Amino acid sequence: MIDAHRVTLSAEDDFDGWRNAARGLAEAGVSPAAIAWQVAGGATDLFAGPDSNPPPDGPSFAVPRNFVDLAKAAICHRDPERFALLYALLLKLRANRHALEDRADPLVDRVEKLAKEVRRDAHKMHAFVRFREVVDADGARFVAWFEPDNHIVRREAGFFVRRFPNMRWTIMTPELTISWDGGALTKSPGATLKDAPDGDPVEETWKTYYASIFNPARVKVKAMTKEMPKKYWKSMPETALIGDLLAGAQAREAAMIETSRAALPKATNIEAAWAALKAEAALCTRCDLYRCASQTVFGEGPPNARILFVGEQPGDHEDLAGRPFVGPAGEVFDAALEKAGIERSATYVTNAVKHFKFVLRGKRRIHQTPEASEINACRWWIEQERDLIRPPLTVALGATAARSLFGKVMAVGKNRGIPHLLCDGSEAWITVHPSYILRLPDAAARAVERDRFIDDLKRIRDRAYSMPK
Ligand code: URA
Repeated sequence: MIDAHRVTLSAEDDFDGWRNAARGLAEAGVSPAAIAWQVAGGATDLFAGPDSNPPPDGPSFAVPRNFVDLAKAAICHRDPERFALLYALLLKLRANRHALEDRADPLVDRVEKLAKEVRRDAHKMHAFVRFREVVDADGARFVAWFEPDNHIVRREAGFFVRRFPNMRWTIMTPELTISWDGGALTKSPGATLKDAPDGDPVEETWKTYYASIFNPARVKVKAMTKEMPKKYWKSMPETALIGDLLAGAQAREAAMIETSRAALPKATNIEAAWAALKAEAALCTRCDLYRCASQTVFGEGPPNARILFVGEQPGDHEDLAGRPFVGPAGEVFDAALEKAGIERSATYVTNAVKHFKFVLRGKRRIHQTPEASEINACRWWIEQERDLIRPPLTVALGATAARSLFGKVMAVGKNRGIPHLLCDGSEAWITVHPSYILRLPDAAARAVERDRFIDDLKRIRDRAYSMPK
């Protein structure tokens, strides 16, 4: 059979090329069976016709954001059918905007699986890349060889830029080589294992890196050995640390992490790392809340903030504005901060959960309390934010925030107004959520609780500004 349309994409992970072609073809009502998708330089489909003409500039249709996220991940899969599957799914979404919600649909299921495998592959790349030090004309460069299962290298480059912003490094893979010189990322053709330097991985670098990302509270030994089977441990220098880190006292571990962090090159570009993190969070699909929310609402504030406030989740206003605490709860919060003598712009304000969870009642979106699984899924982001900002004092506004920070239920009434220790050795305080005050039906009770909240904030201010940053 001769396919009526052939689309040649510029690369295996050419999402933009796929999207442009798919839009035009969908507008023209072309069926999935009539399209041959291929990649420039790849095996040509001998039976395909010429490339389709550029898509007409017709009215374009909008797809849900979660489809874009899903497609961006799935397109990196090695499965040659992925382009066609995504196109078929796009047509389905055109007919029914909620098609993705039908997990029993075999097409949705298959594409979700592709995306999941890509994310898993990315996770492995983050965990298992090992650098060797080589010296070139410009000095030391750290070079690693890695063989991903899928076309994920470009997608994951940002992760390594954020992790090693001040190092010159190169990651070689069979398909693509990426290099970072401390300011710009370059891409060059793939390499072979023979091109990669021999020798031991850079022990100290890796121990430092590993310790810097090690958080005793996050260790799940079973999951760790599953992800990083013990038989590989001997070739991984940092695994020598695992026994110690697990067995040692928490305080010693925290001290060690602190020392290792201090040894890392000072991030001159925390802002760049933060911006990259925020961009990554914008694509978050760690739990299902992204499906209905308008956008990820990430934290905001200066990198040298002494106080980091954690709320529950964005509300209706925040979801639309893309900023935390800008609605009615934000007004209560701002007024109390002012009374307590805390300048909000000098603090970092974020939420335990970054997507708005709601149910629709008529046209109104009614707030729903996030579940433990959603709080846990989102903890990754808040830990990254805290890793970057490293505030001397973190404040949980309400029970959800406390649960996120401590990893367990912490009753607000019993724990407010006193310092608590977080597992990284920094201090956390717990107080009420501003919405709690708003919801009190009685004006007198509201006034009393507002004053108590202000008192807590004053204590927090005194404490935060008496601590070294
Ligand atoms: N409530 C929160 O917990 N966070 C916000 O950003 C807004 C309301």
